[in-house]
Amino acid sequence: MECKNKQNKSLGRTKTVGQQILEILPIILDFFLLIIQVNYHIMEAIYRIFKPLDPSPVNNELVLVTGAGHGIGRELALQYASEGATLVLWDINEEGNQSTAQAILKNGGAKPYTYTCDVSDRQSVLNVARKVKEDIGDISILINNAGIMPAHPLEEHTEEEIKKIMSINVLAHFWTIEAFLPAMKKNNHGHIVALSSVAGIAGLPNLVPYCASKFAVRGLMESLMDELNWNPYNNVKLTSVCPYMVDTGLCKKPFVRFENALNLLEPKYVAAQIMHAQRTGILECTIPRFLLTVNYVTRLLPTKAASKVKAFFESGVHSDKGT
Ligand SMILES: NC(=O)c1ccc[n+]([C@@H]2O[C@H](COP(=O)([O-])OP(=O)(O)OC[C@H]3O[C@@H](n4cnc5c(N)ncnc54)[C@H](O)[C@@H]3O)[C@@H](O)[C@H]2O)c1
Repeated sequence: MECKNKQNKSLGRTKTVGQQILEILPIILDFFLLIIQVNYHIMEAIYRIFKPLDPSPVNNELVLVTGAGHGIGRELALQYASEGATLVLWDINEEGNQSTAQAILKNGGAKPYTYTCDVSDRQSVLNVARKVKEDIGDISILINNAGIMPAHPLEEHTEEEIKKIMSINVLAHFWTIEAFLPAMKKNNHGHIVALSSVAGIAGLPNLVPYCASKFAVRGLMESLMDELNWNPYNNVKLTSVCPYMVDTGLCKKPFVRFENALNLLEPKYVAAQIMHAQRTGILECTIPRFLLTVNYVTRLLPTKAASKVKAFFESGVHSDKGT
């Protein structure tokens, strides 16, 4: 063995210049190809600022929204239904889910299918998903929206609460993806949308477990996208959306410095932005869009400078435990 290594080493030393050039040539060619591709995609992105893609139609899609019984989920369900999609509504709260279904019918949308499901319970997700498949067919757009947001200092979060945040805000995405991604891959058609948050791109006090859960969602989606793209013909798309604070009641005690420029967003507007991001195939965005750029730029700054920028915006949530 040792003798063979020595032989290889001596062979390496005797490589001709021609052999060495041949060895590095593919790397040089790859690098030039990379420069061309990067420039092409930069130009494409600039072009798309002036000529955005037309939103894809959703009238033949079967759209599942988790947490459809209230807030952003309800608005998403209403807006997809008004574009002609067939809706599958999941919520742990049956009453809220039913009232979303009624609102869809009242708006003239197609009859939605409602299921009571706790998305943090893997077995329940897999069972209800099987029922959806039997009752209606393959889900083509999955919107992982259900989420909770307890807000108080980390030491005041109980073990149970932290586990619950992680189970609903992160693990549930794994269970619904487990249930619905295989059919999307088989049909080579589908789209998964995940609700992260601005709290998933920047850490905020009183929201340590929530921020951790929303950062995790982005990690899940980014790595899954890369994995799906192993298949060069992949047509299953992903979108992560990071809204700023929305007026749904989820943020119990919000505070905002620039009330005119950056006040709480309307759920209707947020749902419209999410649907647009999905229909135009955006991989990740914030609502409003400029916050993603602010985040990228801020992260290039030294940490102390970055924390000053954060402090300047002075937006967040007070503890929901105080008076
Ligand atoms: N409201 C905001 O300020 C804001 C900002 C950024 C991101 N988000 C994210 O958007 C999503 C929706 O938020 P929202 O403001 O509409 O919340 P919401 O409280 O108004 O609605 C959430 C819905 O999810 C349901 N739900 C909760 N736990 C569930 C479970 N275990 N299984 C199934 N359904 C469950 C609730 O019953 C409710 O109908 C969440 O993921 C949230 O983190 C919200």
